[in-house]
Amino acid sequence: MPGKRKRSLIIVIDGPAGAGKSTTAKEVARRADLDYVDSGAMYRGFTYLYLKHGKDRSRLKDLLDSHGLRFEFHSTEARVYHGDTEITGDIRSDSVNSHVSDVAAMEEVRNTVRKLLRQVSRDSDVVLEGRDLGTVVFPDADFKFFLTADPEARALRRYDERIGKGEQVSLDQVRENVETRDRIDSNRDIAPLMKADDAVEIDSTFLTFEEQVTRILQYIRNTPTATTKIDIS
Ligand code: DC
Repeated sequence: MPGKRKRSLIIVIDGPAGAGKSTTAKEVARRADLDYVDSGAMYRGFTYLYLKHGKDRSRLKDLLDSHGLRFEFHSTEARVYHGDTEITGDIRSDSVNSHVSDVAAMEEVRNTVRKLLRQVSRDSDVVLEGRDLGTVVFPDADFKFFLTADPEARALRRYDERIGKGEQVSLDQVRENVETRDRIDSNRDIAPLMKADDAVEIDSTFLTFEEQVTRILQYIRNTPTATTKIDIS
């Protein structure tokens, strides 16, 4: 029988839009054989529902109570379903991009997502990415990283990503969306985007993808935890 474990292992990666959190978190999860959890996908899922129901905040509580959303997290992907319909692509639409920061600033939405995040992380070892995971959702996480990069570098990365998916966007549009979301996410009253005091900050502006992943894995490998020993290849 394996040794008694205190609880599941929790690694969080917070940071602003376009800092490379998703790709980095997925690769860390893949190499360390952990599950990957995308908290932004939850905010996006609720934003999709909010828009679908006519942006009516008075109906939000009912919507949150009976949302019908299902999130599937694996080591390399996050899938979102509304009932039987997969909405993984829909939650990345322009309209969701434009409204998600406002919806994510609503207290009732944050409470629901916080509960869901704690539920999905209860029984499995996970790498989670978000904005307030190290400060609010998992203040006792085993490892906390804050991944950041110069705003122009972040806008360019998001632009390349969207062009790579065949979307028709301009760099100006992407830059404006990233700047607006940074501003709303960092200045909201509840759980703003913020580095936890005990998070390790990694500025990825001049790092390659491999370098940023390696830094995180090396830090994890070299730091013993009370929870478990991770086998990283
Ligand atoms: O990581 P993302 O771009 O998919 O996140 C979408 C939005 O969700 C982001 O603009 C702010 C919000 N968010 C949040 O407020 N807290 C989190 N832990 C994760 C995302």
